[in-house]
Amino acid sequence: MSVKNEVLYILERNKGSSISGQELADLSGVSRTAVWKAIKSLKDEGYHIEASKKGYSLSVSSDMLSAQGIRLYLNEEFKSIPITVYKTTRSTNTEAKLLAVQNAEHGTTIIAEEQTKGRGRFGRDFFSPSDSGIYMSIILKVQLSIENSVLVTTAAAVAVCQAIEKITNLSPQIKWVNDIFIDKRKVCGILTEAVTNFESGMMDSVVVGIGINVKTKIEDFPLELQDSAGSIFDHEDKSIRNQLTGEIINNVLNISKNLEDRDFMSAYKQRSMILGEYILYKKDNTWHEGYALDIDDFGGLIVYTPDGQKITLNSGEVSIKKK
Ligand code: BTN
Repeated sequence: MSVKNEVLYILERNKGSSISGQELADLSGVSRTAVWKAIKSLKDEGYHIEASKKGYSLSVSSDMLSAQGIRLYLNEEFKSIPITVYKTTRSTNTEAKLLAVQNAEHGTTIIAEEQTKGRGRFGRDFFSPSDSGIYMSIILKVQLSIENSVLVTTAAAVAVCQAIEKITNLSPQIKWVNDIFIDKRKVCGILTEAVTNFESGMMDSVVVGIGINVKTKIEDFPLELQDSAGSIFDHEDKSIRNQLTGEIINNVLNISKNLEDRDFMSAYKQRSMILGEYILYKKDNTWHEGYALDIDDFGGLIVYTPDGQKITLNSGEVSIKKK
């Protein structure tokens, strides 16, 4: 680890408390001058580091995403996964897919403070403004049959909900397939993309792209999203983005160990906001009415149609019918 990253890791671990230059030098095994240079370059990058007689401290309000800040929250077994954090990039899924074809290791995670070409499902854009969200893509080296591959998306939705629940007192809900809502507003979307091995023609990894609005203000969303999009927090003083990212990585990597066991399915159903509701679903480019009955073992949505038939939707869009 570079001196700068070493110093950042120590400051993140002791966020809000002062550490003397000498202690930082001892802990990172470098001179005080090297520590001073590291602090200067961190400040130049935008970190709020206060200097006092007692030493240096990273402000409790500091919420910049960094590999060091995230690693603090990773379970021991995942501590050494490769993590790259961009200030800005076109799309973390695009970057992750490039790495996946070059054989990046399982768990490799790409994160950005801002995306200039954030991608959503159905070819839509994903609004990804700087400093207020988390845009992350995790590469999973999982060998799944095509019919089981949708389970990654289903599991990822549970992983994100459980991470939000762990560090806030909120109760997120899942709108099939993988949109996460809080107070009837979408706060997170997930785009899972398969990466195929050219030689074998088989799917050899999956990129799980997760976009979360952590503290984007409603008025900052594009007009067309202002009625439907929301954020986890409606105020800016929460500094939990590194922790939330770390918890999501832990959960996604844990849950992906035994995807085919489907242990997460009941957690998914418990958080579903559409089961037991009359819904509108899109099929063959037309909206239809139905009753959302259940989710099957492959993540498909079982719907009762008005003429009494039971059909299963494997992908697509749904919305709850207004009463
Ligand atoms: C959706 O709601 O339609 C899915 C949105 C997925 C957005 C995330 S942000 C990180 C990753 N990179 C992308 O370009 N998209 C996904």
